[in-house]
Amino acid sequence: MSEETLSNLSTETRSFEPPAELAAAANVKADAYAAADADRLAFWAEQAGRLDWAEPFTQVLDWSNAPFAKWFVGGKLNIAHNCVDRHVEAGRGDQVALHFVGEPGDTRDITYAQLKDEVSRAANALEELGIEPGDRVAIYLPMIPEAVIAMLACARVGATHTVVFGGFSADALASRIADCNAKLVITADGGYRRGAPSALKPAVDEALVKIDNDNTAIVENVLVVRRTGQDVAWNGDIDVWWHEVVDESSEIHEAKAFDAEHPLFVMYSSGTTGKPKGILHTTGGYLVGTAYTHHAVFDLKPETDVYWCTADVGWITGHSYIVYGPLANGVTQVLYEGTPDSPHKGRWWEIIEKYKVTLFYTAPTAIRTFMKWGRSIPDGFDLSSLRLLGSVGEPINPEAYMWYRDVIGGDRCPIVDTWWQTETGMMMISPLPGVTAGKPGSAMTALPGVGADVVDEAGVPVPNGSGGYLVLTEPWPSMLRTLMGDDERFVDTYWSRFKEQGYYFAGDGAKKDEDGAIWLLGRVDDVMNISGHRLSTTEIESALVSHPRVAEAAVVGAADETTGQAIVAYVILREGALAEATQGEELVAELRNHVAKEIGAIAKPRSIMLVPELPKTRSGKIMRRLLKDVAENRVVGDTTTLADSNVMDLIAAGAKTST
Ligand code: PRX
Repeated sequence: MSEETLSNLSTETRSFEPPAELAAAANVKADAYAAADADRLAFWAEQAGRLDWAEPFTQVLDWSNAPFAKWFVGGKLNIAHNCVDRHVEAGRGDQVALHFVGEPGDTRDITYAQLKDEVSRAANALEELGIEPGDRVAIYLPMIPEAVIAMLACARVGATHTVVFGGFSADALASRIADCNAKLVITADGGYRRGAPSALKPAVDEALVKIDNDNTAIVENVLVVRRTGQDVAWNGDIDVWWHEVVDESSEIHEAKAFDAEHPLFVMYSSGTTGKPKGILHTTGGYLVGTAYTHHAVFDLKPETDVYWCTADVGWITGHSYIVYGPLANGVTQVLYEGTPDSPHKGRWWEIIEKYKVTLFYTAPTAIRTFMKWGRSIPDGFDLSSLRLLGSVGEPINPEAYMWYRDVIGGDRCPIVDTWWQTETGMMMISPLPGVTAGKPGSAMTALPGVGADVVDEAGVPVPNGSGGYLVLTEPWPSMLRTLMGDDERFVDTYWSRFKEQGYYFAGDGAKKDEDGAIWLLGRVDDVMNISGHRLSTTEIESALVSHPRVAEAAVVGAADETTGQAIVAYVILREGALAEATQGEELVAELRNHVAKEIGAIAKPRSIMLVPELPKTRSGKIMRRLLKDVAENRVVGDTTTLADSNVMDLIAAGAKTST
């Protein structure tokens, strides 16, 4: 880790004790840490008791084939039964599960009893469409109740879902459908985005054409939810309307139990190469991990709390903390379709006021955007129902933490800064709201039952006050089991760096402060974090070089006040010569759109600089560190290892003229 990163460490000294009332009634008290330390597997076995098991497990963890884990060996359960049916059976059928708020202002309250009927109908429909346990189903939907219902219906029938974020392009969707061999795609005509209908189905149609051309087609049907009512092209051979097949199906469906290690879902996430990784999560351990952490970290009281997580179900946060953890705990929650500024910049606060939200979970990038818009907007709403605030996705800087605490939390709500990853499935490092005195900017310590440490290059834990690499020292129930179809890459990526110690390498830099609290410092690999979303530099570089006029590209994540990091690309055009200035602008716009088409709008570079050369070492490795210096307007660092030391002068000169 660079000296510079370490010297940027916060010198923050403030800390906030848990509110006395919350601490007194907290779900999880300080003794949980000691109990888990005394016997970690017994601790997780006890947490497994939160679920209904159709068949009990005979072993908590089988780690004999590490790093391939089996949790709750021999146990059988049905996830949809656990997330829905059992709450109805317990007499809570009339409790609202979802307060859905559509962007245009339409609302739907769905009780657990209604959710059970809907999920059962959808499960019957999936089976009528030939879906069997183990089949893969791709879900490409807006944030509407059908997204939650579709995921639960897949889980109910034992199909493995892969949810693709609606902001991804047809190309990105095609590669995910093909990689996991999806038999069915569930989509909608469109969703609402910033006040206007935004089509989704055309991207599915385009993706299927692309897959057909590649001869990898196994998609048998496309199940289409009617959301916006916009016109859609229709292929009668494969397209079916949700309202025709699901609404017509019976609401009686028997939920069969599946093995604890039955594959539940694949979530694609950026790695350090161009190809996204299919991160595989399974059934029993995943649900135990997400249910426990949601209960502990949000201090959830399912009968009285109203919870809202603003993530999209297309990301892991939506999977673990909108769908599985919260519903397993029988929560009442808000599900919002749209953006924070539609139709006005107070939309989120209006929703909190209306539904009296008590637990709120969002990302630092959103908080920084609200800071920019000014406190007068949230100040115009009654946010007094809130009792706890959560943060996820990237380090929360102390300024944003203090603003969140003061303006949104009225200086009374504790903040839980939760560190975790798509791979971990559940929160790993976080304060416990009734126990921990939170420090602005620190995720604090590993949760009970979780082992985390910061180590040096040799895998030796660093002393307090020092920085290094974040590792997870013990297996945990909701850990990824492998990368879909690529066990070798799974072992290489996460388990080879500290093989001797058997540690999981998270890819994040971190520091332990004098009290041993953990401060996250960002990625140590070529993964960028843009608004809390993970994108790899290589993925965007591949998209750029797939454009016919691009010879070579290098991408870096440059610090950005709002989005945490922003994408800055350096591009060498074919035939060497730089285009004329005006043509250059047009071409830059074209390249940005090209990346959006290849990956999705979230991957559009903030800026693209056309350069004559890229800085490379003598062995040909691009020195992104130097490009980052230029992008962040710093004096360019040590260039002595460059093959051609003049390159940086040329690039820096070009950067000045282009900004
Ligand atoms: O770098 C860390 C950052 O996000 C990465 C994981 O990204 P993803 O798999 O997309 O999951 C995001 C939602 C869980 C991590 O390697 N990250 C996530 N949460 C935090 C964080 N960095 C600092 N503090 C956090 N609370």
